[in-house]
Amino acid sequence: MDERIIGIDFGGQYNQLVARRVRECNVYCEIYSYRTPLSQIRDMHPNGIILTGGPNSVYEEGAALCEAELFELGVPVLGLCYGAQLVMQVLGGNVSRGTKREYGRTPLSLTEAGAKSPLLAGVPENSICWMSHFDYIREAAPGFLTTASTEGAPVAAAEDPGRQLYALQFHPEVVHTEFGQQMLANFVRNICGCSASWNMEDFAQRKIQEIREQVGTGRVLLALSGGVDSSVCAVLLSKAIGKQLTCVFVDHGLLRKNEGDEVEAVFGDAGKFELNFIRVNAAERYYAKLSSVTDPEQKRKIIGEEFIRVFEEEAKKIGAVDFLAQGTIYPDVVESGLGGESAVIKSHHNVGGLPEHVDFKEIIEPLRELFKDEVRKVGLSLGLPEHLVFRQPFPGPGLGIRIIGEVTAEKVRIVQDADAIYREEIAAAGLDASIGQYFAALSNMRSVGVMGDERTYDYAVVLRAVNTVDFMTAEAAEIPYDVLTRIMTRIIGEVRGVNRVLYDITSKPPGTIEME
Ligand code: XMP
Repeated sequence: MDERIIGIDFGGQYNQLVARRVRECNVYCEIYSYRTPLSQIRDMHPNGIILTGGPNSVYEEGAALCEAELFELGVPVLGLCYGAQLVMQVLGGNVSRGTKREYGRTPLSLTEAGAKSPLLAGVPENSICWMSHFDYIREAAPGFLTTASTEGAPVAAAEDPGRQLYALQFHPEVVHTEFGQQMLANFVRNICGCSASWNMEDFAQRKIQEIREQVGTGRVLLALSGGVDSSVCAVLLSKAIGKQLTCVFVDHGLLRKNEGDEVEAVFGDAGKFELNFIRVNAAERYYAKLSSVTDPEQKRKIIGEEFIRVFEEEAKKIGAVDFLAQGTIYPDVVESGLGGESAVIKSHHNVGGLPEHVDFKEIIEPLRELFKDEVRKVGLSLGLPEHLVFRQPFPGPGLGIRIIGEVTAEKVRIVQDADAIYREEIAAAGLDASIGQYFAALSNMRSVGVMGDERTYDYAVVLRAVNTVDFMTAEAAEIPYDVLTRIMTRIIGEVRGVNRVLYDITSKPPGTIEME
């Protein structure tokens, strides 16, 4: 990879977003912790460096800092929020605690110098930026010109074009900063001189080449779940090494209706990709293990462990392989604390770690540089069907955690059928693309109803639909009443064992998106 911007992470909440926004300018960007030695950063030959936000105060003892030499590498540097204050603090400006916090959408005005700033080219004299700070730059460092200000931040933007140093007190990476994307594009393209050549078609072709070189004549084993990441991983490997790849798809009997067959149709012998596909139908095994288990955490644990066991058994049949492939993507890398600083520990893991009894020499993770939307683009460019590429998130434990209480084959059938109707009707109403995630779950409540002239005592299906930006918080979606009514009528009419349909209006927090 020739061109790259390096983001230095000081622990702020938007740091991954910075990398995404830069990549949207078709320039490759990756994040490193502020603890990364300067020599390592220099050896990566970045075209530009972005210092991101962070929770500290730059003048506090123990604050995350950077060395002054960072500003002498001859590489353009852009500091954002905390990063901007850091530039000023290290180079002799003054950063102090403000009297009040400036937060949210804030009017931004360019100064006279701002009108000529290469960073602010194309930004009108007055616009809106997104602020989130308590400390403020009281005085810019010597040599800096103030290029923009807000009511609470006299130095909202400053630069020393001679040294190619830039600072923005606000967050250009947040969509609420009207011209934020323009500023980032100005920085990476015009100031850093990057050529906007990062695109997913090239990435895929380059990766295929790299995989061929890395794998040689070796064999690769991949656990394919049918989710976006492992599917794209499979296709990329298949294009690179064909039948040297074996994919094991464990159908745990907790997938959505027809999903197992859909995955097989794409990757199996009848599909268009060259690879060895092994489907293991393990539903009975899972149901037996889950019999009379009601605790959600225990269910998750059993499902995860059983997956490892089934996978290991298959791997044993295949024998020693050279590589174990994983569909790890960039947010997983950053969130597990390997890349950046913001260690949001992922609470959901599909499998309980690496299988211990699989005989392999190395791990191969072809997607570890990519964000989810980039993974999708790679998938599409390599010919994966849209229904697979744009799949909603589906938890590893599957319907096991969408059935409250004990899991049985009968309950799986009920929730599969209800969910299929729900999805059909949402799509028919044209709401598919406008709802973040939606699915049917099965409560463990049974209640009395009347159907025909008969008393019933059946289950209640729960419909869930949420809108969310990052899946950390979510709001219940407002589905039109007539659509809900149609879904209710069909589910009760067509799915045996159900006599009530409930719509869950709980937001997250306090609820979670899944029921267990
Ligand atoms: P919650 O229920 O925590 O879900 O609000 C947030 C998002 O994560 C998905 N989810 C999981 N994904 N394995 C996964 O791969 C899991 O165990 C798991 N549990 C929840 C959920 O569907 C939602 O998108």
